[in-house]
Amino acid sequence: MARTPLIAGNWKMHKAEREAEEYLQALLPRVAAAERTEVAICAPYTDLKALVESARGSRVEIYAQNMHERAEGAFTGEISAPMLSELGVRGVVLGHSERRELFCESDHALALKVPAALDAGLTPILCVGESEQERDEQLTQRKLRRQIAEDLVGVAADRLAELVIAYEPIWAIGTGRVASAEQAQEAIAFIRALLRSRDERAAEAVRILYGGSVKPDNAAELLALPDVDGALVGGASLQVESFAQIVAAAAR
Ligand code: PGA
Repeated sequence: MARTPLIAGNWKMHKAEREAEEYLQALLPRVAAAERTEVAICAPYTDLKALVESARGSRVEIYAQNMHERAEGAFTGEISAPMLSELGVRGVVLGHSERRELFCESDHALALKVPAALDAGLTPILCVGESEQERDEQLTQRKLRRQIAEDLVGVAADRLAELVIAYEPIWAIGTGRVASAEQAQEAIAFIRALLRSRDERAAEAVRILYGGSVKPDNAAELLALPDVDGALVGGASLQVESFAQIVAAAAR
């Protein structure tokens, strides 16, 4: 099954509305020709409305970086999936390691967030990946198996295909240390095998991205790997030039 590559830029807590707009206006012509690639910007909440309006009709989709698992309620400071969906946001990053590590996001919360996103019509990009210590202790597969089992427990097999998963080894995020081609391929093939045990057909449709220090000079090699369907890009997505080069590497 041919899976459309997805290149998603995760801005994290960068760019207020004016800078976000300028970036998008510069990006749109740069990615207009990347026909067989989906391009996404995962932006701070305060940018979403303006970006959705400016990106309408273009090939760039706008994603949020987090959401609460409940549709509404007494949850001060939180944003729900229906709120994002009403804005016209296409999807949402869930379980990024920064949220897991710095904001104590649990697999239990993710087990509720993933189906809540799907129910609201949002595409979840679920992030999974091992720490350096887990890799050193050969616990990578155990970690991935647990995250996939627990975070997707509420997703019925017939909805699995709507998911995007990002394999992001924590030791490669923001460090300049990228996983080797073998490491990325092995982990992503393992994730696909886990999904296959849930549902053969859906597993072939799920896009699995690599994330962690993806740059213009390493993107082509990573994106050429047989099981890698795109990239989740942090630091290198902050500049239009480097992000556009990564999109171009996927379109090749
Ligand atoms: P990085 O971040 O590209 O800066 O390593 C990736 C991510 O956190 O998604």
